[in-house]
Amino acid sequence: AGDTFKYYSEGEWKVSASGKSVPIINPTTRKTQFKVQACTQEEVNKVMESAKIAQKSWAKTPLWKRAELLHKAAAILKDHKKPIAECLVKEVAKPAKDAATEVVRSGDLVSYCAEEGIPLGVVLAIPPFNYPINLAVSKIAPALIAGNSIVLKPPTQGAVSALHMVHCFHLAGFPKGVISCVTGKGSEIGDFLTMHPGVNCISFTGGDTGIAISKKAGMIPLQMELGGKDACIILEDADLDLAVANISHELTIYPPLKTPSNDLPVEKQQSIGYGEKSSVPSIGTVEKRRMPIGTRRRCGQRCTAVKVVLVMESIADTLVKKVNEKIGKLSVGPPENDCDITPVVTESSANFIESLVMDAKKKGATFCQEYKREGNLIWPLLLDNVKPEMRIAWEEPFGPVLPVIRIGNAEEGIHHCNASNFGLQGCIFTKDINKAMLISDAMETGTVQINSAPARGPDHFPFQGLKDSGIGSQGVTSSINMMTKMKSTVINLP
Ligand code: G3P
Repeated sequence: AGDTFKYYSEGEWKVSASGKSVPIINPTTRKTQFKVQACTQEEVNKVMESAKIAQKSWAKTPLWKRAELLHKAAAILKDHKKPIAECLVKEVAKPAKDAATEVVRSGDLVSYCAEEGIPLGVVLAIPPFNYPINLAVSKIAPALIAGNSIVLKPPTQGAVSALHMVHCFHLAGFPKGVISCVTGKGSEIGDFLTMHPGVNCISFTGGDTGIAISKKAGMIPLQMELGGKDACIILEDADLDLAVANISHELTIYPPLKTPSNDLPVEKQQSIGYGEKSSVPSIGTVEKRRMPIGTRRRCGQRCTAVKVVLVMESIADTLVKKVNEKIGKLSVGPPENDCDITPVVTESSANFIESLVMDAKKKGATFCQEYKREGNLIWPLLLDNVKPEMRIAWEEPFGPVLPVIRIGNAEEGIHHCNASNFGLQGCIFTKDINKAMLISDAMETGTVQINSAPARGPDHFPFQGLKDSGIGSQGVTSSINMMTKMKSTVINLP
Protein backbone atom coordinates (compact mmCIF):
# COMPACT_ATOMS: atom_id res chain seq x y z
CA ALA A 1 0.00 0.00 0.00
CA GLY A 2 2.47 2.62 -1.17
CA ASP A 3 1.92 5.62 -3.43
CA THR A 4 -1.31 6.26 -5.26
CA PHE A 5 -1.09 5.62 -8.99
CA LYS A 6 -1.80 8.68 -11.13
CA TYR A 7 -4.54 8.89 -13.75
CA TYR A 8 -3.88 9.74 -17.40
CA SER A 9 -5.28 12.87 -19.00
CA GLU A 10 -4.12 15.18 -21.84
CA GLY A 11 -1.09 12.97 -22.39
CA GLU A 12 0.11 13.40 -18.80
CA TRP A 13 0.03 11.49 -15.55
CA LYS A 14 -1.88 13.49 -12.95
CA VAL A 15 -2.89 13.54 -9.30
CA SER A 16 -6.60 14.16 -8.66
CA ALA A 17 -7.57 17.42 -6.99
CA SER A 18 -9.94 15.35 -4.82
CA GLY A 19 -6.97 14.39 -2.65
CA LYS A 20 -8.73 11.03 -2.30
CA SER A 21 -7.85 7.56 -3.48
CA VAL A 22 -9.56 4.23 -4.14
CA PRO A 23 -7.93 1.18 -2.51
CA ILE A 24 -7.38 -2.01 -4.49
CA ILE A 25 -7.56 -5.09 -2.31
CA ASN A 26 -5.36 -8.07 -3.13
CA PRO A 27 -7.85 -10.97 -3.38
CA THR A 28 -5.29 -13.40 -1.90
CA THR A 29 -4.06 -11.41 1.09
CA ARG A 30 -7.24 -9.30 1.42
CA LYS A 31 -5.00 -6.32 2.21
CA THR A 32 -4.68 -3.07 0.28
CA GLN A 33 -2.22 -3.71 -2.54
CA PHE A 34 -2.45 -0.48 -4.54
CA LYS A 35 -4.29 2.81 -4.56
CA VAL A 36 -5.58 4.80 -7.54
CA GLN A 37 -6.81 8.37 -7.85
CA ALA A 38 -10.44 9.12 -7.01
CA CYS A 39 -11.06 11.47 -9.95
CA THR A 40 -13.65 14.23 -9.71
CA GLN A 41 -16.43 15.11 -12.14
CA GLU A 42 -14.50 18.24 -13.18
CA GLU A 43 -11.55 16.03 -14.08
CA VAL A 44 -13.85 13.80 -16.13
CA ASN A 45 -15.11 16.92 -17.93
CA LYS A 46 -11.54 17.94 -18.70
CA VAL A 47 -10.77 14.46 -20.06
CA MET A 48 -13.89 14.53 -22.27
CA GLU A 49 -13.01 17.98 -23.58
CA SER A 50 -9.48 16.97 -24.52
CA ALA A 51 -10.72 13.66 -26.02
CA LYS A 52 -13.17 15.63 -28.18
CA ILE A 53 -10.48 18.02 -29.44
CA ALA A 54 -7.87 15.31 -29.98
CA GLN A 55 -10.31 13.11 -31.88
CA LYS A 56 -10.75 15.71 -34.65
CA SER A 57 -7.11 15.67 -35.70
CA TRP A 58 -6.72 11.95 -34.89
CA ALA A 59 -9.46 11.17 -37.42
CA LYS A 60 -7.47 13.11 -40.03
CA THR A 61 -4.28 11.22 -39.22
CA PRO A 62 -3.60 8.84 -42.12
CA LEU A 63 -4.63 5.25 -41.54
CA TRP A 64 -1.06 4.00 -41.96
CA LYS A 65 0.06 6.31 -39.17
CA ARG A 66 -2.70 5.14 -36.82
CA ALA A 67 -1.79 1.53 -37.63
CA GLU A 68 1.90 2.26 -37.08
CA LEU A 69 1.23 3.65 -33.61
CA LEU A 70 -0.95 0.67 -32.73
CA HIS A 71 1.76 -1.77 -33.83
CA LYS A 72 4.24 0.20 -31.73
CA ALA A 73 1.95 0.10 -28.69
CA ALA A 74 1.46 -3.65 -29.20
CA ALA A 75 5.22 -4.24 -29.21
CA ILE A 76 5.72 -2.10 -26.09
CA LEU A 77 2.89 -3.91 -24.35
CA LYS A 78 4.52 -7.28 -25.02
CA ASP A 79 7.89 -5.91 -23.82
CA HIS A 80 6.17 -4.98 -20.54
CA LYS A 81 4.63 -8.41 -20.09
CA LYS A 82 6.35 -9.10 -16.78
CA PRO A 83 5.40 -6.02 -14.69
CA ILE A 84 1.85 -5.96 -16.08
CA ALA A 85 1.35 -9.66 -15.41
CA GLU A 86 2.60 -9.12 -11.86
CA CYS A 87 -0.11 -6.50 -11.34
CA LEU A 88 -2.77 -8.90 -12.65
CA VAL A 89 -1.62 -11.52 -10.17
CA LYS A 90 -1.92 -9.06 -7.28
CA GLU A 91 -5.10 -7.26 -8.35
CA VAL A 92 -7.33 -10.02 -9.67
CA ALA A 93 -5.47 -13.16 -8.47
CA LYS A 94 -4.93 -14.33 -12.03
CA PRO A 95 -2.54 -17.32 -12.08
CA ALA A 96 0.92 -16.13 -13.13
CA LYS A 97 1.04 -17.93 -16.49
CA ASP A 98 -2.50 -16.85 -17.45
CA ALA A 99 -1.58 -13.28 -16.53
CA ALA A 100 1.39 -13.32 -18.90
CA THR A 101 -0.77 -14.91 -21.62
CA GLU A 102 -3.35 -12.14 -21.26
CA VAL A 103 -0.73 -9.46 -21.91
CA VAL A 104 0.66 -11.22 -24.99
CA ARG A 105 -2.81 -11.97 -26.33
CA SER A 106 -3.65 -8.29 -25.88
CA GLY A 107 -0.55 -7.22 -27.80
CA ASP A 108 -1.61 -9.52 -30.64
CA LEU A 109 -5.13 -8.10 -30.57
CA VAL A 110 -3.85 -4.54 -30.88
CA SER A 111 -1.80 -5.58 -33.91
CA TYR A 112 -4.79 -7.25 -35.59
CA CYS A 113 -6.69 -3.95 -35.72
CA ALA A 114 -5.74 -2.27 -38.95
CA GLU A 115 -8.84 -1.35 -40.91
CA GLU A 116 -10.48 1.82 -42.14
CA GLY A 117 -13.70 3.45 -40.92
CA ILE A 118 -15.58 6.69 -40.26
CA PRO A 119 -15.23 7.51 -36.58
CA LEU A 120 -18.02 8.19 -34.11
CA GLY A 121 -16.03 10.53 -31.85
CA VAL A 122 -15.23 9.71 -28.23
CA VAL A 123 -15.57 6.05 -27.21
CA LEU A 124 -15.97 5.27 -23.53
CA ALA A 125 -14.39 1.89 -22.76
CA ILE A 126 -15.26 0.05 -19.55
CA PRO A 127 -13.61 -3.38 -19.25
CA PRO A 128 -14.15 -5.93 -16.44
CA PHE A 129 -11.82 -7.23 -13.75
CA ASN A 130 -11.38 -10.69 -15.30
CA TYR A 131 -9.49 -9.33 -18.33
CA PRO A 132 -8.50 -5.77 -17.36
CA ILE A 133 -5.96 -5.63 -20.21
CA ASN A 134 -7.37 -7.82 -22.94
CA LEU A 135 -10.94 -6.55 -22.71
CA ALA A 136 -9.59 -2.99 -22.57
CA VAL A 137 -7.48 -3.27 -25.72
CA SER A 138 -10.32 -5.10 -27.49
CA LYS A 139 -12.17 -1.78 -27.19
CA ILE A 140 -9.24 0.64 -27.46
CA ALA A 141 -7.55 -0.69 -30.60
CA PRO A 142 -10.66 -0.89 -32.84
CA ALA A 143 -11.76 2.57 -31.64
CA LEU A 144 -8.37 4.12 -32.38
CA ILE A 145 -7.80 2.55 -35.78
CA ALA A 146 -11.21 3.89 -36.81
CA GLY A 147 -10.17 7.42 -35.79
CA ASN A 148 -12.03 7.69 -32.48
CA SER A 149 -10.48 8.90 -29.26
CA ILE A 150 -10.76 6.79 -26.11
CA VAL A 151 -11.66 7.46 -22.51
CA LEU A 152 -10.93 4.36 -20.45
CA LYS A 153 -12.51 3.69 -17.08
CA PRO A 154 -10.82 0.52 -15.80
CA PRO A 155 -12.35 -1.77 -13.18
CA THR A 156 -11.15 -1.01 -9.65
CA GLN A 157 -9.62 -4.49 -9.35
CA GLY A 158 -7.29 -4.36 -12.33
CA ALA A 159 -6.96 -0.57 -12.48
CA VAL A 160 -3.21 -0.58 -11.91
CA SER A 161 -2.67 -3.25 -14.57
CA ALA A 162 -4.73 -1.09 -16.94
CA LEU A 163 -2.72 2.05 -16.07
CA HIS A 164 0.47 0.14 -16.93
CA MET A 165 -1.10 -0.86 -20.24
CA VAL A 166 -2.06 2.78 -20.94
CA HIS A 167 1.55 3.71 -20.25
CA CYS A 168 2.55 1.47 -23.17
CA PHE A 169 0.27 3.52 -25.45
CA HIS A 170 1.77 6.67 -23.94
CA LEU A 171 5.28 5.40 -24.76
CA ALA A 172 4.17 4.59 -28.31
CA GLY A 173 3.58 8.31 -28.80
CA PHE A 174 -0.16 8.72 -29.36
CA PRO A 175 -1.12 12.40 -29.55
CA LYS A 176 -2.29 13.88 -26.26
CA GLY A 177 -5.97 13.44 -25.54
CA VAL A 178 -6.39 10.52 -27.95
CA ILE A 179 -6.26 8.15 -24.99
CA SER A 180 -7.21 9.05 -21.44
CA CYS A 181 -7.74 6.91 -18.39
CA VAL A 182 -9.75 7.99 -15.36
CA THR A 183 -9.98 6.03 -12.16
CA GLY A 184 -12.35 6.60 -9.28
CA LYS A 185 -15.45 5.65 -7.40
CA GLY A 186 -18.48 4.49 -9.35
CA SER A 187 -20.67 6.55 -7.06
CA GLU A 188 -18.81 9.74 -8.02
CA ILE A 189 -17.94 9.28 -11.70
CA GLY A 190 -19.82 6.14 -12.86
CA ASP A 191 -23.14 7.58 -14.07
CA PHE A 192 -21.41 10.88 -14.75
CA LEU A 193 -19.19 9.17 -17.34
CA THR A 194 -21.81 6.95 -18.95
CA MET A 195 -24.34 9.77 -19.24
CA HIS A 196 -21.77 12.37 -20.27
CA PRO A 197 -22.84 14.34 -23.36
CA GLY A 198 -19.27 14.12 -24.69
CA VAL A 199 -19.48 10.33 -25.09
CA ASN A 200 -20.43 9.09 -28.57
CA CYS A 201 -20.26 5.35 -27.95
CA ILE A 202 -19.94 3.01 -24.96
CA SER A 203 -18.23 -0.35 -25.02
CA PHE A 204 -18.81 -2.14 -21.72
CA THR A 205 -18.04 -5.62 -20.44
CA GLY A 206 -19.24 -6.63 -17.02
CA GLY A 207 -22.33 -7.59 -15.07
CA ASP A 208 -25.77 -6.15 -14.41
CA THR A 209 -24.35 -2.62 -14.35
CA GLY A 210 -24.46 -2.84 -18.14
CA ILE A 211 -28.24 -3.13 -18.08
CA ALA A 212 -28.46 0.04 -15.97
CA ILE A 213 -26.01 1.81 -18.31
CA SER A 214 -28.01 0.84 -21.39
CA LYS A 215 -31.17 2.32 -19.84
CA LYS A 216 -29.47 5.62 -19.08
CA ALA A 217 -27.08 6.05 -21.98
CA GLY A 218 -29.31 7.75 -24.54
CA MET A 219 -29.00 7.78 -28.32
CA ILE A 220 -25.51 6.43 -28.77
CA PRO A 221 -24.27 3.05 -30.04
CA LEU A 222 -23.70 0.53 -27.28
CA GLN A 223 -21.57 -2.57 -27.19
CA MET A 224 -22.38 -4.63 -24.11
CA GLU A 225 -21.20 -8.00 -22.91
CA LEU A 226 -22.89 -8.81 -19.63
CA GLY A 227 -22.22 -12.37 -18.65
CA GLY A 228 -23.77 -15.71 -19.33
CA LYS A 229 -25.00 -19.00 -17.99
CA ASP A 230 -23.35 -21.05 -20.69
CA ALA A 231 -24.97 -24.47 -20.97
CA CYS A 232 -23.09 -27.61 -21.93
CA ILE A 233 -25.45 -30.22 -23.40
CA ILE A 234 -23.97 -33.72 -23.42
CA LEU A 235 -25.77 -36.40 -25.42
CA GLU A 236 -25.48 -40.18 -25.07
CA ASP A 237 -23.21 -40.60 -28.08
CA ALA A 238 -20.75 -37.91 -26.92
CA ASP A 239 -17.02 -38.51 -26.65
CA LEU A 240 -17.14 -38.35 -22.87
CA ASP A 241 -13.43 -37.87 -22.37
CA LEU A 242 -13.53 -34.90 -24.73
CA ALA A 243 -16.53 -33.47 -22.89
CA VAL A 244 -14.83 -33.94 -19.53
CA ALA A 245 -11.61 -32.35 -20.81
CA ASN A 246 -13.61 -29.37 -21.98
CA ILE A 247 -15.59 -29.01 -18.78
CA SER A 248 -12.45 -29.26 -16.69
CA HIS A 249 -9.70 -28.04 -18.98
CA GLU A 250 -11.09 -26.42 -22.05
CA LEU A 251 -9.41 -26.36 -25.42
CA THR A 252 -9.27 -23.00 -27.09
CA ILE A 253 -8.71 -22.42 -30.77
CA TYR A 254 -6.40 -19.58 -31.64
CA PRO A 255 -5.68 -18.31 -35.12
CA PRO A 256 -2.35 -19.08 -36.74
CA LEU A 257 0.15 -16.53 -35.51
CA LYS A 258 3.06 -15.41 -37.64
CA THR A 259 5.27 -15.46 -34.60
CA PRO A 260 4.26 -17.88 -31.86
CA SER A 261 3.77 -15.52 -28.97
CA ASN A 262 3.68 -17.85 -26.04
CA ASP A 263 5.07 -21.15 -24.99
CA LEU A 264 1.88 -23.17 -24.99
CA PRO A 265 2.14 -26.52 -26.73
CA VAL A 266 0.52 -26.34 -30.12
CA GLU A 267 -1.05 -29.04 -32.19
CA LYS A 268 -2.16 -28.65 -35.77
CA GLN A 269 -5.83 -29.24 -36.17
CA GLN A 270 -8.25 -29.12 -39.06
CA SER A 271 -11.08 -26.85 -38.07
CA ILE A 272 -13.95 -24.94 -39.57
CA GLY A 273 -13.62 -21.30 -38.61
CA TYR A 274 -15.92 -18.40 -39.20
CA GLY A 275 -13.40 -15.67 -38.65
CA GLU A 276 -14.01 -12.12 -39.69
CA LYS A 277 -13.03 -10.89 -43.07
CA SER A 278 -9.72 -9.25 -42.35
CA SER A 279 -7.72 -11.81 -40.53
CA VAL A 280 -8.96 -15.36 -40.38
CA PRO A 281 -9.82 -17.58 -43.33
CA SER A 282 -13.42 -18.79 -43.27
CA ILE A 283 -12.38 -22.42 -43.55
CA GLY A 284 -8.93 -23.78 -43.02
CA THR A 285 -6.29 -25.05 -40.73
CA VAL A 286 -5.86 -23.29 -37.44
CA GLU A 287 -3.60 -24.06 -34.57
CA LYS A 288 -5.21 -25.46 -31.51
CA ARG A 289 -3.52 -24.45 -28.29
CA ARG A 290 -4.11 -26.50 -25.22
CA MET A 291 -4.93 -24.24 -22.32
CA PRO A 292 -6.18 -25.16 -18.88
CA ILE A 293 -9.17 -22.90 -19.00
CA GLY A 294 -12.65 -24.50 -18.67
CA THR A 295 -14.83 -23.79 -15.75
CA ARG A 296 -11.77 -24.10 -13.57
CA ARG A 297 -9.70 -21.59 -15.43
CA ARG A 298 -9.95 -18.23 -13.73
CA CYS A 299 -12.07 -20.14 -11.20
CA GLY A 300 -15.09 -19.86 -13.45
CA GLN A 301 -14.66 -16.06 -13.50
CA ARG A 302 -15.28 -15.92 -17.23
CA CYS A 303 -18.50 -14.97 -18.96
CA THR A 304 -17.84 -17.93 -21.26
CA ALA A 305 -17.12 -20.56 -18.63
CA VAL A 306 -19.38 -23.62 -18.69
CA LYS A 307 -21.90 -22.66 -16.00
CA VAL A 308 -24.35 -25.54 -16.19
CA VAL A 309 -23.89 -29.10 -17.44
CA LEU A 310 -27.03 -30.68 -18.93
CA VAL A 311 -26.21 -34.35 -19.30
CA MET A 312 -28.30 -37.32 -20.39
CA GLU A 313 -29.26 -39.40 -17.37
CA SER A 314 -27.87 -42.63 -18.91
CA ILE A 315 -24.29 -41.30 -19.01
CA ALA A 316 -24.46 -38.90 -16.06
CA ASP A 317 -22.85 -41.20 -13.46
CA THR A 318 -19.85 -41.85 -15.71
CA LEU A 319 -19.48 -38.18 -16.58
CA VAL A 320 -19.67 -37.04 -12.96
CA LYS A 321 -17.11 -39.67 -11.92
CA LYS A 322 -14.69 -38.56 -14.63
CA VAL A 323 -15.10 -34.84 -13.81
CA ASN A 324 -14.52 -35.58 -10.13
CA GLU A 325 -11.27 -37.34 -10.99
CA LYS A 326 -10.12 -34.20 -12.80
CA ILE A 327 -11.20 -31.97 -9.94
CA GLY A 328 -9.14 -34.08 -7.54
CA LYS A 329 -6.03 -33.19 -9.54
CA LEU A 330 -6.51 -29.40 -9.51
CA SER A 331 -4.08 -27.34 -7.46
CA VAL A 332 -5.66 -24.79 -5.14
CA GLY A 333 -3.71 -21.81 -3.80
CA PRO A 334 -2.15 -18.43 -4.57
CA PRO A 335 -1.87 -17.05 -8.12
CA GLU A 336 1.87 -16.50 -7.63
CA ASN A 337 2.23 -20.32 -7.57
CA ASP A 338 0.25 -20.53 -10.79
CA CYS A 339 -2.39 -22.70 -9.12
CA ASP A 340 -5.41 -23.87 -11.11
CA ILE A 341 -7.79 -22.49 -8.51
CA THR A 342 -6.93 -19.10 -7.01
CA PRO A 343 -8.94 -16.72 -4.80
CA VAL A 344 -12.01 -15.15 -6.38
CA VAL A 345 -11.79 -11.43 -6.89
CA THR A 346 -13.54 -10.02 -3.80
CA GLU A 347 -14.99 -11.10 -0.50
CA SER A 348 -18.48 -10.13 -1.65
CA SER A 349 -18.04 -12.35 -4.70
CA ALA A 350 -17.00 -15.26 -2.44
CA ASN A 351 -20.04 -14.57 -0.25
CA PHE A 352 -22.34 -14.61 -3.26
CA ILE A 353 -20.92 -17.94 -4.48
CA GLU A 354 -21.37 -19.34 -0.98
CA SER A 355 -25.00 -18.21 -0.93
CA LEU A 356 -25.67 -20.20 -4.13
CA VAL A 357 -23.93 -23.26 -2.68
CA MET A 358 -25.91 -23.07 0.57
CA ASP A 359 -29.19 -22.67 -1.32
CA ALA A 360 -28.37 -25.79 -3.37
CA LYS A 361 -27.50 -27.66 -0.17
CA LYS A 362 -30.78 -26.70 1.45
CA LYS A 363 -32.69 -27.87 -1.63
CA GLY A 364 -30.97 -31.26 -1.84
CA ALA A 365 -28.17 -31.06 -4.43
CA THR A 366 -25.53 -33.82 -4.25
CA PHE A 367 -22.17 -32.42 -3.15
CA CYS A 368 -19.40 -34.31 -4.98
CA GLN A 369 -16.76 -32.60 -2.82
CA GLU A 370 -16.92 -31.07 0.60
CA TYR A 371 -17.55 -27.31 0.42
CA LYS A 372 -14.40 -25.56 1.54
CA ARG A 373 -13.52 -21.86 1.73
CA GLU A 374 -10.66 -19.85 3.23
CA GLY A 375 -11.03 -16.09 2.76
CA ASN A 376 -11.64 -15.51 -0.94
CA LEU A 377 -10.33 -18.95 -1.86
CA ILE A 378 -13.08 -21.45 -2.69
CA TRP A 379 -12.21 -25.05 -3.48
CA PRO A 380 -13.66 -26.45 -6.74
CA LEU A 381 -17.05 -28.03 -6.27
CA LEU A 382 -19.27 -30.12 -8.51
CA LEU A 383 -22.94 -30.15 -7.59
CA ASP A 384 -24.87 -33.10 -9.02
CA ASN A 385 -28.64 -33.62 -9.25
CA VAL A 386 -29.28 -29.88 -9.39
CA LYS A 387 -32.96 -29.05 -9.88
CA PRO A 388 -34.63 -26.03 -11.51
CA GLU A 389 -35.79 -24.68 -8.15
CA MET A 390 -32.19 -24.14 -7.08
CA ARG A 391 -30.68 -20.69 -7.69
CA ILE A 392 -27.46 -22.23 -9.06
CA ALA A 393 -29.48 -23.67 -11.96
CA TRP A 394 -29.99 -20.13 -13.24
CA GLU A 395 -27.61 -17.69 -11.58
CA GLU A 396 -24.02 -17.11 -12.60
CA PRO A 397 -21.69 -17.96 -9.67
CA PHE A 398 -18.55 -16.55 -11.33
CA GLY A 399 -16.66 -19.02 -9.19
CA PRO A 400 -15.34 -22.60 -9.20
CA VAL A 401 -18.72 -24.22 -8.62
CA LEU A 402 -20.37 -26.20 -11.40
CA PRO A 403 -23.96 -27.54 -11.34
CA VAL A 404 -24.97 -30.72 -13.16
CA ILE A 405 -28.58 -31.16 -14.24
CA ARG A 406 -29.60 -34.61 -15.48
CA ILE A 407 -31.87 -34.58 -18.55
CA GLY A 408 -34.04 -37.23 -20.22
CA ASN A 409 -33.66 -35.91 -23.78
CA ALA A 410 -32.03 -33.12 -25.81
CA GLU A 411 -35.22 -31.05 -25.77
CA GLU A 412 -34.99 -30.73 -21.99
CA GLY A 413 -31.46 -29.38 -22.39
CA ILE A 414 -32.55 -26.89 -25.05
CA HIS A 415 -35.49 -25.84 -22.90
CA HIS A 416 -33.26 -25.16 -19.87
CA CYS A 417 -30.76 -23.23 -22.00
CA ASN A 418 -33.49 -21.07 -23.54
CA ALA A 419 -35.33 -20.46 -20.28
CA SER A 420 -32.27 -18.56 -19.01
CA ASN A 421 -32.20 -14.76 -18.98
CA PHE A 422 -28.75 -15.07 -20.48
CA GLY A 423 -27.83 -16.06 -24.02
CA LEU A 424 -24.09 -15.72 -24.43
CA GLN A 425 -22.67 -19.06 -25.56
CA GLY A 426 -23.46 -22.73 -25.22
CA CYS A 427 -21.96 -26.04 -26.27
CA ILE A 428 -23.06 -29.49 -27.38
CA PHE A 429 -21.17 -32.76 -27.22
CA THR A 430 -22.33 -35.43 -29.68
CA LYS A 431 -20.81 -37.38 -32.57
CA ASP A 432 -23.91 -36.73 -34.67
CA ILE A 433 -23.23 -33.48 -36.52
CA ASN A 434 -26.77 -33.29 -37.91
CA LYS A 435 -28.24 -33.51 -34.44
CA ALA A 436 -25.69 -30.97 -33.22
CA MET A 437 -26.70 -28.49 -35.92
CA LEU A 438 -30.40 -28.88 -35.08
CA ILE A 439 -29.72 -28.30 -31.38
CA SER A 440 -27.42 -25.39 -32.18
CA ASP A 441 -30.18 -23.76 -34.26
CA ALA A 442 -32.60 -24.19 -31.37
CA MET A 443 -30.29 -22.71 -28.72
CA GLU A 444 -30.89 -18.99 -28.14
CA THR A 445 -27.28 -17.97 -27.64
CA GLY A 446 -24.87 -15.74 -29.53
CA THR A 447 -22.49 -18.63 -30.23
CA VAL A 448 -22.73 -22.40 -29.99
CA GLN A 449 -19.61 -24.53 -29.87
CA ILE A 450 -19.96 -28.10 -31.10
CA ASN A 451 -17.67 -30.54 -29.30
CA SER A 452 -15.72 -27.77 -27.60
CA ALA A 453 -16.32 -25.53 -24.62
CA PRO A 454 -17.47 -21.92 -24.99
CA ALA A 455 -14.78 -19.30 -25.55
CA ARG A 456 -14.55 -15.77 -26.85
CA GLY A 457 -11.31 -16.27 -28.74
CA PRO A 458 -9.69 -16.17 -31.14
CA ASP A 459 -9.97 -12.44 -30.75
CA HIS A 460 -10.98 -11.97 -34.40
CA PHE A 461 -14.13 -14.01 -33.90
CA PRO A 462 -17.44 -12.20 -33.57
CA PHE A 463 -18.55 -12.42 -29.94
CA GLN A 464 -22.11 -11.59 -29.00
CA GLY A 465 -24.81 -12.40 -26.51
CA LEU A 466 -28.59 -12.43 -26.71
CA LYS A 467 -31.05 -11.29 -24.03
CA ASP A 468 -29.33 -10.12 -20.82
CA SER A 469 -25.95 -11.23 -22.18
CA GLY A 470 -25.52 -8.13 -24.24
CA ILE A 471 -25.95 -5.79 -27.15
CA GLY A 472 -23.98 -5.84 -30.39
CA SER A 473 -21.03 -7.95 -31.38
CA GLN A 474 -17.35 -7.75 -30.46
CA GLY A 475 -14.31 -9.00 -32.32
CA VAL A 476 -11.84 -7.09 -34.43
CA THR A 477 -14.00 -6.33 -37.47
CA SER A 478 -17.30 -6.31 -35.55
CA SER A 479 -15.92 -3.74 -33.13
CA ILE A 480 -14.44 -1.54 -35.85
CA ASN A 481 -17.79 -1.62 -37.66
CA MET A 482 -19.63 -0.80 -34.46
CA MET A 483 -17.32 2.12 -33.70
CA THR A 484 -17.83 3.69 -37.09
CA LYS A 485 -20.88 5.12 -38.75
CA MET A 486 -22.14 4.95 -42.31
CA LYS A 487 -22.00 8.37 -43.98
CA SER A 488 -23.67 9.08 -47.29
CA THR A 489 -23.04 11.98 -49.61
CA VAL A 490 -25.45 12.13 -52.55
CA ILE A 491 -24.29 14.31 -55.43
CA ASN A 492 -27.15 15.78 -57.43
CA LEU A 493 -25.71 17.25 -60.60
CA PRO A 494 -27.48 20.39 -61.81
O1 G3P B 1 -15.56 -13.07 -19.27
C1 G3P B 1 -15.26 -12.37 -20.39
C2 G3P B 1 -15.35 -13.18 -21.64
O2 G3P B 1 -15.16 -12.32 -22.69
C3 G3P B 1 -14.51 -14.42 -21.69
O3 G3P B 1 -13.47 -14.45 -22.59
O4 G3P B 1 -11.52 -15.44 -23.74
O5 G3P B 1 -12.18 -16.29 -21.52
O6 G3P B 1 -13.61 -16.78 -23.47
P1 G3P B 1 -12.65 -15.81 -22.84
